Amino acid sequence: MWYWKKCAQYRAKSKGFPLPPGPPRNHLIGNLLDIPSSLPWNRFLEWKYQYGDIVSVEVLGNRIILLNSIATANDLLQKRSNNYSDRLVPRMGGKLMGLDQSFTMLPLGPAWKQQRKLTHTSLSAEAVRKYFTIQEDIAALYLDGLIMNPKDFISQLRLATGRIIMSITYGFPIQTSDNLYISEAESTMRLIGESMVPGAYLVDLIPWLSRLPSWLPFNTIHKTAASGRAQIETMTLRPFEHVKCDMEAGTAHPSFTLDCLKDLQSADTYAVVLSFILAMAKYPKVQEAIKKEIDQVVGGERLPTFQDRVNLPYVNATIKEALRWKAALPLGFARTVKNDDFFQGYYIPAGSIVLSNIWAIAHDEKSGILPEEFCPERFLKNHVHETAIDPYTYVFGFGPRVCPGKSLGDNNLFALVTGLMATMNIMSPIGADGKPVNIDPQYTSGFVSHSESFDVIITPRSAQATELIKERVSHTTSQ
Ligand code: HEM
Repeated sequence: MWYWKKCAQYRAKSKGFPLPPGPPRNHLIGNLLDIPSSLPWNRFLEWKYQYGDIVSVEVLGNRIILLNSIATANDLLQKRSNNYSDRLVPRMGGKLMGLDQSFTMLPLGPAWKQQRKLTHTSLSAEAVRKYFTIQEDIAALYLDGLIMNPKDFISQLRLATGRIIMSITYGFPIQTSDNLYISEAESTMRLIGESMVPGAYLVDLIPWLSRLPSWLPFNTIHKTAASGRAQIETMTLRPFEHVKCDMEAGTAHPSFTLDCLKDLQSADTYAVVLSFILAMAKYPKVQEAIKKEIDQVVGGERLPTFQDRVNLPYVNATIKEALRWKAALPLGFARTVKNDDFFQGYYIPAGSIVLSNIWAIAHDEKSGILPEEFCPERFLKNHVHETAIDPYTYVFGFGPRVCPGKSLGDNNLFALVTGLMATMNIMSPIGADGKPVNIDPQYTSGFVSHSESFDVIITPRSAQATELIKERVSHTTSQ
């Protein structure tokens, strides 16, 4: 009886329109077993080829809609933004660990609007120009660290991206070392990243589990939540205490404060630059072409600056390619549907989870160059008949919730990429057969996906390059 009533309600709501197509599902668990826990976006890409630009799947009663093209993402997330702009707040990361109060998770309403206005003012392309010097200085510190300890290029990159966010967000001196703030932020970042993946915890899929008493054997939900909440609170409050002390002492640097999810924002930069380093070792010809262009502009006499950017088209194409090749947020930042909707003859039920499938959009074959290759030429008109879709139109998201840190993030990439190419050689290690090793690291499956560690050989390009770095660092140390 109950079943028939439900079916009748569904028919009335869907007005007889079908759900978007998708893989056949099991009556009890839906497509749970069809979605691999590792790199699920690879399976979602197969489904794009099989079912089209909008795909529907179900996991334990949770409906997921995949938007596999720029057009569908813009049609829903931009043109119907009032209905598609609330975030999916996973039960564990959100309500239980407390991230639901963070700006990035707030529903589209007055509180979100007010904060969005503030971030827009402090992060507009014009406003972030004032951080050029900080970004160039931190890039130089990174390069200096590489001269001394090139094998450590990954943890030093974490430090550099952490430094940028800490100095811009809290006004910390740029030399903030790998002390409490950054290492603490790093482990919390991992925790947040994991807890923001929809379905990472069983309680995200079956929310009533959170009502089970904590004394039940094997019920670790409350313990996990309490420890996550404590870690996040500590990470969020500690730097504020530092700034407060500085203010009292009259030494605070000018800065703005953003949000407790800010560490994920340095994670995006970290993920993209790490993929860039990997690409440079794997694609020496691209590295050569970037260096040729930079040398023509700066002549090896100085380090590149933001003022050079307009004269570096190949570098700009490389940054696009680094954003595209292994997209850092392969499934964007999940949204939910407020009210029932109808689109292209399909029914989209209220409460569905919407994922913009950035991974699938990035696998665009318009230029005729294979999407798996790292090839900046795909964006250059004089190299291809038709250029690839510009990643700036999708890697930062869609509609009113598009990434407000787009310009700042892009500038971070420019400072680190040009600094590295102006001064360093990046090579694959040589194997026992005397040939370069084919480096093929795993990528993580979290909300931000980045490469696991790998080995490359990094050496300064010349004594003059080393001197330029030392010279720049000697000017920054006084700050
Ligand atoms: C390469 C670097 C970055 C990438 C690829 C990136 C990507 C993204 C994406 C895909 C979203 C989700 C947008 C949507 O829902 O459609 C997002 C949101 C966001 N990003 Fe970024 N981001 C980057 C850097 C930054 C930086 C540097 C900041 C801040 C300093 C930042 C701040 C934010 C915030 C606050 C949101 C949430 C906005 C909202 O919910 O209204 N991001 N980002």
